Amino acid sequence: MIPYKHEPFTDFSIKENKDAYLEGLATVQGYLGQAYPLIIGGERVSTEEQITSYNPAKKTEVIGSVSKASKDLAEKAMQVADETFKMWSQVEPEIRADVLFKAASIIRRRKHEFSALLTLEAGKPWNEADADTAEAIDFLEYYARQMLRLKDGQKVESRVGEYNRYDYIPLGVGIIISPWNFPFAIMAGTTVAAVVTGNTVLLKPASTTPVVAYKFIEVLEEAGLPAGVVNFVPGSGAEVGDYLVDHPRTRFVSFTGSRDVGLRINQRASVLNEGQIWIKRIIAEMGGKDTIVVDKEADLELAAQSIVKSAFGFSGQKCSACSRAIIVEDVYEEVVARVTELTKALTIGDPTDNANFMATVIDEAAFKKITSYIEIGKTEGKLMAGGTADDSVGYFVNPTVFADVDPSARIMKEEIFGPVVAIAKAKDFDQAIEIANDTEYGLTGAVITKNRLNQEKARKQFHVGNLYFNRGCTGAIVGYQPFGGFNMSGTDSKAGGPDYLQLHMQAKTTSETF
Ligand code: NAD
Ligand code: ALA
Repeated sequence: MIPYKHEPFTDFSIKENKDAYLEGLATVQGYLGQAYPLIIGGERVSTEEQITSYNPAKKTEVIGSVSKASKDLAEKAMQVADETFKMWSQVEPEIRADVLFKAASIIRRRKHEFSALLTLEAGKPWNEADADTAEAIDFLEYYARQMLRLKDGQKVESRVGEYNRYDYIPLGVGIIISPWNFPFAIMAGTTVAAVVTGNTVLLKPASTTPVVAYKFIEVLEEAGLPAGVVNFVPGSGAEVGDYLVDHPRTRFVSFTGSRDVGLRINQRASVLNEGQIWIKRIIAEMGGKDTIVVDKEADLELAAQSIVKSAFGFSGQKCSACSRAIIVEDVYEEVVARVTELTKALTIGDPTDNANFMATVIDEAAFKKITSYIEIGKTEGKLMAGGTADDSVGYFVNPTVFADVDPSARIMKEEIFGPVVAIAKAKDFDQAIEIANDTEYGLTGAVITKNRLNQEKARKQFHVGNLYFNRGCTGAIVGYQPFGGFNMSGTDSKAGGPDYLQLHMQAKTTSETF
């Protein structure tokens, strides 16, 4: 077996890569506007009610529409998944892993088509779309190998005349609820982690990005996944989401999204419903208020570049995005000035043009939320860059920097999930870490320092699930930087890590006496 290595990112300065991407774009443009059914046990089910997916950069352009599951159809899908579990849970792990390996190959062959779809459906600039597709491939390749590592369980001791084993078995039917911001990678990763471990699932993708999810299910089918293992049930979170989370046959829920929805799922899933004979397992990966700390002994250009890239890559719509920078006072003015300069130089526009660093935010609701936070920011800090937005064609919000923000300000505490960064001054490194930790979240963070002792202090005291030194705080790679956060950032499941698959299984001890 070839050892795991992450999928390389595409260099679009090479003409043939650029042409390949443009070809992918043309392919996707050729199928815009189509209608996609639900998939239940392999059967295509079309409903009258539809969810329409629009291009956030051209808000009237329809990417596609998907059928919308009702409670009755969700129930049907649950019954199919429950029945299919009896078969799929008995299929050898090697065969399950092979489906993932094959799916990875299919996606690799259609890589730029998938990335172009992400550009049009989610407003991802080329490099962001390329990274999302690469991460989806990585999840397939990594989890397949992890399953092969775990297929014979773990070693336990045996005594003379006794044979003990410790094996992992699947859980049952899982509900996969995914967000729109990594509409391919997170949707695919959470789905296949459940599937390769022998479970069957109902996938409810985010309503703003359902088309890429449908295309992924087609890939899984082409790769040989039997009908009924993954059932595609887009629908309203409040209606179908609640129904499935509450369902007595739901064995686990794998959710990635906002804090409030995650908490709601966690609470509802803890209620025992009639006919339920287990405690539901919840994986909930939620929001962030991620911080870059800049020490006085630091590469200040690196600090400014890291803040700008982490704050504004994909318009700040990453759970890992830098939404706060805490800078030690000795270097504060210099770093703020450079961050402002770099931000003002960013190019913003249609994501199909690779000259643009940044494009839109996802939809009207996000546009309204972010622009209202910008107004709050104007009362809480000094506007250094941006502060404007335009939704006449698409949902464009200019990259916005606020300086001199009090650590207790709302824009320092609440997840905005857009291209807005708040900067505060600290008197020294210790205070900077204190401010960085003063949030209910704990997902990512970065420290820019040349002081080894301060770095080690941060390693112990900066309370985040993913901490980076002398780089930005986004861009975790599957198998290299397992990803997940503390506190209100979730259950710290560490997607793309060596313990992740176990969350989808239960361990069984068997002991035989000779
Ligand atoms: P969201 O919580 O609005 O939606 C996430 C998913 O939950 C969607 O599929 C949505 O339809 C569904 N949903 C909504 N209500 C539901 C309900 N009552 N029951 C069941 N499902 C329901 O989040 P979003 O806007 O799609 O994504 C952005 C959020 O996700 C941000 O807070 C971001 O930080 C977070 N996020 C976290 C991670 C991580 O790994 N920690 C990764 C990506 C995104
Ligand atoms: N894996 C994504 C990142 O680290 C969320 O930015």
